[in-house]
Amino acid sequence: MDDYYESNRRNWDERARVHPETDYYDVAGFLDGESSLWPLEREELGPHVDEGTSLLHLQCHFGMDTLSWAREGAEVVGVDFSGEAVREARILADEAGLADRAEFVESDVLGLDLDREFDVVFTSYGVLAWLDDLAAWADTVDRHLAPGGVFYIAENHPVAGTFASVEGDSAELAYPYFSDEPLHFDVQGNYAADAEFEHSEHYEWAHTLGDIVTELATRGLRIEFLHEHPFCTWRCYEGMTEDEQGYWWLPEDVAVELPLTFSLKARKE
Ligand SMILES: C[S@@+](CC[C@H](N)C(=O)[O-])C[C@H]1O[C@@H](n2cnc3c(N)ncnc32)[C@H](O)[C@@H]1O
Repeated sequence: MDDYYESNRRNWDERARVHPETDYYDVAGFLDGESSLWPLEREELGPHVDEGTSLLHLQCHFGMDTLSWAREGAEVVGVDFSGEAVREARILADEAGLADRAEFVESDVLGLDLDREFDVVFTSYGVLAWLDDLAAWADTVDRHLAPGGVFYIAENHPVAGTFASVEGDSAELAYPYFSDEPLHFDVQGNYAADAEFEHSEHYEWAHTLGDIVTELATRGLRIEFLHEHPFCTWRCYEGMTEDEQGYWWLPEDVAVELPLTFSLKARKE
């Protein structure tokens, strides 16, 4: 397990150094006052975030979404296992003038215990595939939620993760839906950067939608909704088209809509 973890951490340290310079992340726009949050989470979670709401962001990367919630009034804590991501996040918090309401912690989210509870636990887009133990992840969510608190995730849909390409009336099935084994990748570039990475090797895990919901529900979190969406936040297949909000849709010649993103809200009773 340590080898997988270390490969992934090295890969994310390198990504965290590169990503703040990319158009995808648009740090300049953020520093000009734009939110990096997508319309989906602003609409679905936004009503739960007010002045003084305590919010824990799991796998916060270099903190732009975390700090966007801080701009909405939240007192935020972002957690990421990449030391480089946390370092960049602290710099960004200073630059954005939000350091007084934002704390960043370098830690694995599995086994995380900050010894405090939050009104909101949030995580989004490209997080679960990096975790080998969904039960430990759900324990972390549960441990940090105050009674009555809200958990929200917006994430790439596990069904979308099984295809390498989708075209016309066919899809190329390339990755497992049901599997406990790590998937090994050694590729250059990614959703945000067309860069050459020295530490390109990494490992991902498939998690079914059923397992994600069940791990949360069996800890006593009441699922308030599970929504599935036919768009995603990055160009996951060739030929996709981007709308004016930045969402990516399947090519027009694809015969049926597929679930590419899901969002889930749950409450601790
Ligand atoms: C795709 S990013 C999340 C992206 C976020 N939505 C954004 O765009 O800023 C995934 C993050 O998970 C972090 N990560 C991966 N495995 C982790 C673990 N076991 N514990 C904590 N963070 C982890 C990586 O360092 C990375 O910052």
